Amino acid sequence: MASHYTIILIFSVSIAATASTLLSDGLKNDLFPEILRDVAVARLYELGKVSDADGYLERTFLSPASIRAGNLIRTWMEDAGLTTWMDGLGNVHGRIQPPNASKKALLLGSHLDTVVDAGMFDGALGIISAISALKVLNVTGRSRNLKHPVEVIAFCDEEGVRFQSTFLGSAAIAGVLPVSTLQIPDKSGLTVQNVLRENLIDTTEENLSQLKYDADSVLGYVEVHIEQGPVLESVGLPLAVVKGIAGQTRIKLTVRGSQGHAGTVPMSMRQDPMVAAAELIVSLESLCKRPQDYISSNGPDGQCNAFSIKSLSGSLVCTVGEISTWPSASNVIPGQVTFTIDIRTIDDIGREAIIYELSNQMDTICDRRSVSCIMERKHDANAVSCDAGLNSQLKSAAYAAIKRMTGEDIGDVPVLMSGAGHDAMAMSHLTKIGMLFVRCRGGISHSPEEHVLEDDVWAAGLAIHAFLDTNL
Ligand SMILES: *[C@@H]1O[C@H](CO)[C@@H](O)[C@H](O)[C@H]1NC(C)=O
Ligand SMILES: *[C@@H]1O[C@H](CO)[C@@H](O)[C@H](O)[C@H]1NC(C)=O
Ligand SMILES: *[C@@H]1O[C@H](CO)[C@@H](O)[C@H](O)[C@H]1NC(C)=O
Repeated sequence: MASHYTIILIFSVSIAATASTLLSDGLKNDLFPEILRDVAVARLYELGKVSDADGYLERTFLSPASIRAGNLIRTWMEDAGLTTWMDGLGNVHGRIQPPNASKKALLLGSHLDTVVDAGMFDGALGIISAISALKVLNVTGRSRNLKHPVEVIAFCDEEGVRFQSTFLGSAAIAGVLPVSTLQIPDKSGLTVQNVLRENLIDTTEENLSQLKYDADSVLGYVEVHIEQGPVLESVGLPLAVVKGIAGQTRIKLTVRGSQGHAGTVPMSMRQDPMVAAAELIVSLESLCKRPQDYISSNGPDGQCNAFSIKSLSGSLVCTVGEISTWPSASNVIPGQVTFTIDIRTIDDIGREAIIYELSNQMDTICDRRSVSCIMERKHDANAVSCDAGLNSQLKSAAYAAIKRMTGEDIGDVPVLMSGAGHDAMAMSHLTKIGMLFVRCRGGISHSPEEHVLEDDVWAAGLAIHAFLDTNL
């Protein structure tokens, strides 16, 4: 940890030193610190106070606070010269239509909803940095020269807290949201459609399918998001380009043994599902730490090749996050243990190979321990790759932003994989996507402890501004 702090310290000192040099050089306006840092940070704090809860941040799909947040975002969009509207699902849009622009619009955005007891940067940073960058184009009079229409979208639901269904907003725009979604109830029994009606939005199934954007009308989708992980902090840099978003499988594994008295059944005669589960969990950890030791380059059905081993070992993460036992008493050998497994990697074929190997290990371990094991796949999502063209533009933009702020040549902008899902994942069904990650303190997210340095907010805005500049 100590070395991380040292890196960051050196980095921020150098920003401060360079910024003052630039100030004295009269170049201050080139970096737009007022708009891209001061105003942007003030807005993050202001939006972070718009909450349905007292004392912590909670803004779920179409709640009173999320409507207030949407209205606040609209005023910022209008201030940047955008024309705004709210669509039939509660997404907030702001668009600039330059006079001689092409038909295809560049979409920028992120989500305005939050988890319960959230941080104020998750989602909000993407929306606010896009609006700030467009504000700079507005005040410098260059938004008229944009080659493409630019539209910022603040998506109404990414976290899925209220209806347990993620990406409602972006999936509707991408045209992959089933119309039956309107009938999903929340905990109080109100459906998505009821909640929309409460907010005077009368959306039918037909309206919902009309929310889909025509693929020919869009150029691409770009999202800025906090990293929600510790890598950027450890390398001491504010920005990274995202290579892709990991695919995911969720498994439920049930181990059944022989329930019995903790005092009377000898150790040699037990069929204990708890220790079998423990062994399975530890072997999953080894498998996911060093997949190359378990999976050969001609793995199941010859699917796995050397390339996938490499991308697999670089991106694979496996987690057992939930475990329950029956009957769960201190003096009883359990009869059954159930646990979840969350497997993520950028490599879809590699993910299948891991599940195949896991299932073989399970058979061996469960046979040896005379317990029965059942694996159920509960959820599968394939990985999504970011567009190479957008990525190279974003990489140059991030490089330029950091160079201009620090005066230093950082070499290569890091390229990271996203282990978390984002609106960009849903938008990939509509158009090519690109993403920038922003460093956050300690890699912490989904917590009030979530924090982004003011200068990193600035770097994000400056990078999006530089990216838009290449579209002038
Ligand atoms: C900038 O935004 C304002 C609204 O805040 C608008 O009246 C003006 O036309 C915009 N300027 C340009 C160059 O787009
Ligand atoms: C839904 O479609 C109907 C008929 O086209 C229209 O009158 C209504 O305004 C639409 N509702 C929304 C929320 O867009
Ligand atoms: C748009 O195109 C017209 C005709 O070519 C030209 O006169 C005008 O200056 C252009 N406007 C901008 C903002 O580029």
